[in-house]
Amino acid sequence: MPPDNLSGKDIYLKECAVCHGVEGEGNERGYPIRFPVESYAEAVTRRGRSGNPEFAIPMPAYSKAQISDEKLKEIWEYLRSFPKPQSGKELYQTYCANCHGANGRGGFSGENVIRETDDYREAIREGSHRYDFLNRKKYMPSYAVAEISGEQIALLRRYAQELRRSQTPNPLPPFPDNHGGDEDEDEDEDEDEDEDD
Ligand code: HEC
Ligand code: HEC
Repeated sequence: MPPDNLSGKDIYLKECAVCHGVEGEGNERGYPIRFPVESYAEAVTRRGRSGNPEFAIPMPAYSKAQISDEKLKEIWEYLRSFPKPQSGKELYQTYCANCHGANGRGGFSGENVIRETDDYREAIREGSHRYDFLNRKKYMPSYAVAEISGEQIALLRRYAQELRRSQTPNPLPPFPDNHGGDEDEDEDEDEDEDEDD
């Protein structure tokens, strides 16, 4: 148990950095976790999470005895203390890629975000299944203007279009029937073949 005199940052460096990087940039053992959505990040940290084929060791659960609520808040503050992402690519990688995959084709959430959709902005502002934090196929955070501005949504959307163009010889069909994402996790290569038909 970390002694009380450690700051949130110290606890982060001691407990979390080995899997999430010294500055929350991520590594082969865990996702980048800068600019966390607190309610979601707290749920994952308190309950732990397993079953992600991308990582060999699951995310451990941390009790309040191990890290108090106050220190956890300090950890989120530390993870917010870095320069805000600027470009569409940086924004996507910081806020979206852990769930939708670096290529935007679904990642662990199974939800493809590089196909055409009229609801792009609403999806980001409203999120989905608000308190169902640990359900990877359902929960998406909602982002207020203070976190992601309208201008940044436009950048994100442009980056999604870039990803779409760079990945397929032909544009993907709008709204394929796999909406809801029950395809296998982490099998992006296979998905390519399906969707090009
Ligand atoms: C042994 C490696 C390991 C350690 C130590 C670890 N994590 Fe994780 N963490 C992971 C893995 C792996 C995942 C992905 C879990 C999944 O998707 O099922 C994860 C996921 C997360 C997520 C959710 C990220 C997202 O976008 O879904 C947060 C937040 C998080 N960890 C915070 C922490 C904090 C805070 C600490 C320290 C108190 C910590 N982790 C310590 C491996 C670790
Ligand atoms: C914690 C995981 C998570 C994060 C982070 C996340 N999403 Fe999602 N997103 C989901 C899930 C799960 C769904 C499917 C929700 C449903 O249908 O129930 C979804 C749905 C969507 C949709 C709707 C797709 C459609 O056609 O209806 C869009 C667009 C989207 N996300 C974009 C984004 C963007 C852009 C970001 C980053 C700013 C982001 N998401 C961050 C998990 C996430």
